Amino acid sequence: MTKSFLSGAGRKDNGPMPSDAIETLAKRHLIQPWESLENLGGEARTILDRAENVYLYDSEGNKLLDAPAGMWCVQVGYGCREIAEAMANQAMQLAYNSPWYSTSGPAAELAARIAEKTPGDLNHIFFTTGGSTAVDSALRFVQFYNNYKGRPEKKKILARQSGYHGSTYLSASCSGKERDKVYLDFAKDLVHHLSAPLPYRRPEGMSIEAFCDFLIEEMEQKILELGADKVAAFIAEPILASGGVVVPPPGYHKRTHELCRKYDILYIADEVVTAFGRLGHWFASEEVFGITPDIVTFAKGVTSGYVPLGGMAISEQIVSEVSGKDAKGAVYSNGYTYSGHPVACAAALASMDVIEKEGILEHVREIAPYFQQSLESLEELPLVGEVRGEGLMACVDCVADKKAKNPLSLDMEVGGRIDRHCQERGLIVRPIYNMCVMSPPLVIKKKQIDDMTRILREGIEITMDDLEREGLWHRDQVA
Ligand SMILES: Cc1ncc(COP(=O)(O)O)c(C=O)c1O
Repeated sequence: MTKSFLSGAGRKDNGPMPSDAIETLAKRHLIQPWESLENLGGEARTILDRAENVYLYDSEGNKLLDAPAGMWCVQVGYGCREIAEAMANQAMQLAYNSPWYSTSGPAAELAARIAEKTPGDLNHIFFTTGGSTAVDSALRFVQFYNNYKGRPEKKKILARQSGYHGSTYLSASCSGKERDKVYLDFAKDLVHHLSAPLPYRRPEGMSIEAFCDFLIEEMEQKILELGADKVAAFIAEPILASGGVVVPPPGYHKRTHELCRKYDILYIADEVVTAFGRLGHWFASEEVFGITPDIVTFAKGVTSGYVPLGGMAISEQIVSEVSGKDAKGAVYSNGYTYSGHPVACAAALASMDVIEKEGILEHVREIAPYFQQSLESLEELPLVGEVRGEGLMACVDCVADKKAKNPLSLDMEVGGRIDRHCQERGLIVRPIYNMCVMSPPLVIKKKQIDDMTRILREGIEITMDDLEREGLWHRDQVA
């Protein structure tokens, strides 16, 4: 059978494909992440054509400020010639090498360069293809480690509600979003979820300190209930990113880390979002939160999103326990065709060069308070319950009623509505149910932050008008 789906929809005279053809082909053939299959082929997505610095241009030529930096990843901004040239040069010199029986300069150099930046003695770097495979590799390493040490029953993983760790079977099992669990299977016996450390929705009347005590007590109780000899690891994003930029209460990181030490549990910091500058440091665990995890995962910003790459850094201590002349028969049989891909590693090295040369970490530390304050001004709007964040990541959490702090119903699609109004005005935000998340390219300037906040305010105001007109919400009901 011949298939001629492209006929009539392809490129004209080898020029760029017209946007209506792109839309037709995408709707007919593409299944995108989190695709609504009920509405397969029915959803019109923004067709992006090109990008520069912090701006995207859609197929109609509209200029859009990219508030989520793609997907928390385009650290140095779009159109960075140094990264593009490093990739092109590497592709011409050595486009690929099999990591099973060879290595390359870029992979070795990048591993050493990342080891310089990681906390403590996390000096062993294992490369993967992205964040999910980084988390999966970390979890499989923990299993391998405990099997090797002769304690195969020490396997259970502690994770948190609202956490997101990826889309492989194991990493998705650690994610804590109930809405993502429909019709899919998960390693339910393996993973146990603790409460989301979100101070905003702590029980009424409870102080933040008491909330932190509650979270720590809950974690210790869970360890005792499961048995410390059964719990292998705690996996935690320093700030829960797609769960709505959840910044845990002060002291939480240190105290969860202490519990892990007390009960001989490995601490995996999932820094897929927070590493490579998002909080003004190469890694956030030690510099921002004062802890040295046993394993750190990274991805996204490592290449500024120019090409896929992820990885994990493991402590010397842990690796030493399963390696060397006494490690008879120990093979960590886990890896990918593209582990340490030379072109991806060359892109990462170039991105790190740009971050250093342009003082981007310093810039983030300097501009982050302005970014946070600017967005916080939106809290005065009746629909906005809280604006929270740290560094260059922030979330606008919309509520039906500011006092009850109850998120607006899913059916109202509030984040999506706000995003649509913003896009008409030149801004893309990341809608997540009742929330909008912002994590712009790290090179964003004050004037662009002003534009972002102004357009977001307009988008929320128009959404409030829409909701009132449709009888779904009323500003009078807001305390
Ligand atoms: C904290 C965290 N971990 C892991 C992942 C999975 O990364 P990827 O989509 O590159 O597989 C993500 C993706 O958003 C993430 O935010």
